[in-house]
Amino acid sequence: MYTPLDTLMDLFQKSRSLVVITGAGVSTKAGIPDFRSQTGVYAQEGVNENLFHIEHFRQSPEAFYKVFGPLYQVIRSAQPTYTHRFLKRMEELGRLKTIITQNIDGLHHKAGSSNVIEIHGHLRQWDCLSCRNSYGLEPWIEETVSRGEVPTCSGCQGVLKPHVVFFGEYVMGLEKAMQAVQTADLVMVLGSSLVVYPVAGLPGYRDENAYFVILNKEPTPLDDEADVVIHGDVDEILQRLGFL
Ligand code: OAD
Repeated sequence: MYTPLDTLMDLFQKSRSLVVITGAGVSTKAGIPDFRSQTGVYAQEGVNENLFHIEHFRQSPEAFYKVFGPLYQVIRSAQPTYTHRFLKRMEELGRLKTIITQNIDGLHHKAGSSNVIEIHGHLRQWDCLSCRNSYGLEPWIEETVSRGEVPTCSGCQGVLKPHVVFFGEYVMGLEKAMQAVQTADLVMVLGSSLVVYPVAGLPGYRDENAYFVILNKEPTPLDDEADVVIHGDVDEILQRLGFL
């Protein structure tokens, strides 16, 4: 009998222009919690999307950094998973064109992937909300954030914000991400609940002849539109493809 994994293998072998969209589920095996699972960030008492809203951050950066501190410590020391390494290898082989990631953990970079659109930003830059000065990832920023405290600008004492997209802000590189999806012959979503826009709308830009695959532990609102859906651990599914 032909299983979804067999179909996935076929699509994968035929594809010459793969574009992958990743979410927090590709990093859970690295020890970084996702957002909406039972063990996710939003399952913590008093933590919800509001904490990641720009207006809330401006009003109460202390509340954000208190929750973000422990998470940042985990992100800092996290190492790429099988999935990150698999995607890097696919890029090396010339099969994978672009990774569009919602993750701010930088693990695609750590794995060595080069064509990555970090649509929700990253933690390698820190921006002053007052004087617009920007800092790279300096040790004193890392230490302050790890302690759950607010890092401030050494010039004007303004609050530093990680170079990430909060709710209420524009995402980064959306145009480029849309173009990448349009030129793909296979679009794969890995480890995302696909409930946050505009990323959840990106697969809709695929070519009419392109295939669409979702690998995620839990069902997503786009499952019905996909050619292949496999609910399971993304590392385990990709391992069964046997490419690394
Ligand atoms: P979510 O937490 O919403 O979804 C992660 C999905 O990954 C869930 O559906 C899990 O079932 C699944 N999952 C977890 N571990 C997995 C594994 N090992 N293998 C396969 N699937 C796994 O995270 P995102 O979809 O990335 O934005 O969330 C999107 C955005 O919402 C985030 O970028 C963040 C958040 O609020 C902002 O903060 C702006």
